[in-house]
Amino acid sequence: MYNGPMDKGRKIFVCEQCGKESAKWLGHCPACEGWNTYVETLHVSSKRSGSACSANAPQELCNVSKEEKPRFSLKIAEFDRVLGGGIVPGSLVLIGGDPGIGKSTLLLQISANAAKSGKKVLYVTGEESLSQIRLRANRLSTPGERIFTLAETNLSVILEHLTQEPPDIAIVDSIQTVYLDGIDSSAGSIAQIRECTVRLMQWAKDNNIPLLISGHVTKDGFIAGPKALEHIVDAVLYLEGEQFSSYRLLRSVKNRFGSANEVGVFEMTGKGLMEVTNPSEAFLSQRSKETIGSIVVPTLEGTRPLLVEIQALTTNASFGPSRRTTNGIDFNRLLLVTAVLTKRAGLGLGNQDIIVNVAGGLKVGEPAADLGIAIAIASSLRSAPVDRNLAAVGEIGLSGELRAVPQMDRRIGEAAKLGFKRFILPETKDVKSPRGIELLQASSLKDALRMAIPRVERKSDEGNPE
Ligand code: TYD
Ligand code: MG
Repeated sequence: MYNGPMDKGRKIFVCEQCGKESAKWLGHCPACEGWNTYVETLHVSSKRSGSACSANAPQELCNVSKEEKPRFSLKIAEFDRVLGGGIVPGSLVLIGGDPGIGKSTLLLQISANAAKSGKKVLYVTGEESLSQIRLRANRLSTPGERIFTLAETNLSVILEHLTQEPPDIAIVDSIQTVYLDGIDSSAGSIAQIRECTVRLMQWAKDNNIPLLISGHVTKDGFIAGPKALEHIVDAVLYLEGEQFSSYRLLRSVKNRFGSANEVGVFEMTGKGLMEVTNPSEAFLSQRSKETIGSIVVPTLEGTRPLLVEIQALTTNASFGPSRRTTNGIDFNRLLLVTAVLTKRAGLGLGNQDIIVNVAGGLKVGEPAADLGIAIAIASSLRSAPVDRNLAAVGEIGLSGELRAVPQMDRRIGEAAKLGFKRFILPETKDVKSPRGIELLQASSLKDALRMAIPRVERKSDEGNPE
């Protein structure tokens, strides 16, 4: 793309969902397939003023220093891990999430911990009054020394304060509330948040100070969401959770200084977000005694194994076509599993309403959970309990075969650690069996079902099971 001097102030169009730029308006985004997502904005150029090649000269790669920038720990182990071992000075980290999920709480806790270890923090808020932040700090038992707060939304003023008295770590809560004079659109518009983010990024890089910003995810697409910023910032962390569950997952979807897809687990309590150091145990602690339609599946979140309970309920569809409902798994995945169960395992699901739920408000995206979903459905259909000490994992193929899934050793290890005795998995070579857990290898869905629910087969099936 041409980036010359004539570029300044040039109007371009940007997809609000994925941030793809285009010179003309498009009705359909070629990158994310979104419809009607393009909005007009100013071209964002991250170049600086002054001579084009004064400070920077090409360096031969072998002469570039290998030294990694020293990170500093924020003393919240789950947060540090998601960032790849602490925050890198000069990096810009975006924390996205639904309104009310706990972004401001997390940012204040980060401030509190940094302040405790002697660092100076500047917390800029555009959403709340300073006394509201003070009240939240009280709730978190934070004395507030070394945390400087500023209620301001004019970015030029914010940058002036940041430059006059640079803190050790800076926070802007939220990016949608700040604005730059000279851009004639309102705060929160895509033009404003992009330009403001680029300015903050420049400040962070120039001063080598870490900066955290928060951003709401918006569903309607009218106000620009953090998606449009993903390619500008260094790291994007999403704080996720269900409205009625106290668990929160902090997931890195992009990280220039660490691995993406790392997950930290927190619980929202009366005293802020607490780390959950053993999430599998926490998620299984409320498991009911009833094991009809319930099975534990070792999923992977990033590199971390997590045991989750999958529940299914099947009932006779009273009238009309049967319905399928999911909570925490992909709807299309349920359709696939149901179709294979019907066609390859002979389960009569045609006239059944099916509900599948992941306990604890978690979301499972992996196909590795297929087998768990299938066993839970079969167990509910047959009203046959599943052994409480059984865990199962495997992807289901359309011809009813069970397919291998990655990182089997980690999954088995986590199940063994939590006391599971039997583990159904696809046929896999070189898999180690830790003590106390019996590995049951199955090549097909049918085999696996037979191992999990001995009563699964019935002669008079096909059609009406009840
Ligand atoms: P908040 O951090 O304001 O969310 P966001 O900045 O993402 O909009 O947190 C909002 C919710 O968290 C609010 O409903 C109250 C709850 N909360 C607690 O349950 N415990 C706490 O200690 C705090 C500070 C908040
Ligand atoms: Mg907030």
